Amino acid sequence: MKILVTGGAGFIGSNFIRLLLQQHPEHKIINLDLLTYAGNLENLKDLSSHPCYSFVRGDICDAGVVEDLQFDAIIHFAAESHVDRSILDSSPFLQTNIMGTKNLLEAARRRGCRMVHVSTDEVYGSITQGLFTEASPLSPNSPYAASKASSDLFARAYYETYGTEVVITRCSNNYGPYQFPEKLIPLMISHAMTGKALPVYGDGKNVRDWIHVHDHNRAVDLVFHKGRAGEVYNIGGRNEQQNIDIIRKILSVVAEIQGTDPERLNGLITYVKDRPGHDRRYAIDPVKLESELGWKAEVAFDEGIAATVRWYIENKDWWSRILSGEYMKYYETQYGQRLGK
Ligand code: NAD
Ligand code: TYD
Repeated sequence: MKILVTGGAGFIGSNFIRLLLQQHPEHKIINLDLLTYAGNLENLKDLSSHPCYSFVRGDICDAGVVEDLQFDAIIHFAAESHVDRSILDSSPFLQTNIMGTKNLLEAARRRGCRMVHVSTDEVYGSITQGLFTEASPLSPNSPYAASKASSDLFARAYYETYGTEVVITRCSNNYGPYQFPEKLIPLMISHAMTGKALPVYGDGKNVRDWIHVHDHNRAVDLVFHKGRAGEVYNIGGRNEQQNIDIIRKILSVVAEIQGTDPERLNGLITYVKDRPGHDRRYAIDPVKLESELGWKAEVAFDEGIAATVRWYIENKDWWSRILSGEYMKYYETQYGQRLGK
């Protein structure tokens, strides 16, 4: 089968392509990616000459680009993915996440092909008690979440209206190698390594359910091969943690590996003005995926986070190159005032 993977040069997509090529030598992959600020072909440089892999630089919003490609199925990761950027300017989120997804759904409809739409638990909004299930109402709070919820509704509409064979996944917060350093975990690791302030939004007690990217991608692979069309599958790590606890854990691993004084690293923690509309808690129930498709998270958090910290320490060149130009402009806008610079 020839599979069109969108956004394969990003964090989750690049890890997914590596997994799919290992697990399924019978498939061929076309990676369609625009290479926005978040896309990086270095993430896949070991695979660039793999006989089952090819790369096309292009925009999922461009119907002509998608039309020209030959494929039998779509696994759709491409997105604008960062909540803080969506608060600064939501336009690219509407364009890529809604219009781009609609364009791919249209391609799947016309070709009669299967599509996995990779979404997020953030479409459900914030929950005080209990867990989100697939039946929970959509209640997105950030512009990012609103754009993903919209794309989910288009996916649903294509299934209901045209019978397009689309399946939606909604996963919790991912961590692991190749995550762009604007997100919480790589941001804290890179700042701890370079002695920069660690900006904690609000009181640091917001809760996220963290899952290793490998477990998310194993689930997407399963859903692609075995999930029922028209269904939603939640993916979660059953691993709820407060942000401040995650940060302290990262600091203890960095201190241990680098032989630095943990107290000096703890001194870098800086509480800053909260994110507007900051969701207090995400918590998701993956029981449907577990019982129906036999999935189970494999990576224990303490091991996964230690391996991730080690990866960032060993791959400083990868993220140092990113921390320049466009990223530094974003960083200044996002954190300049908050950190009193
Ligand atoms: P990312 O920002 O690291 O990567 C996104 C990729 O999409 C980049 O390679 C970028 O170049 C590409 N892209 C963006 N706009 C494009 C366009 N118009 N055309 C073609 N390519 C384009 O994101 P990620 O963290 O890897 O997330 C991947 C998907 O998983 C997203 O759909 C996201 O909503 C979803 N998701 C992410 C998380 C998480 O914790 N990161 C959790 C649940 C779901
Ligand atoms: P993030 O990685 O942006 O993921 P999301 O907002 O999609 O959950 O943020 C994870 C949590 O960390 C979230 O509660 C916001 C918080 N956070 C900070 O406290 N400081 C930061 O600099 C960043 C980027 C995030």
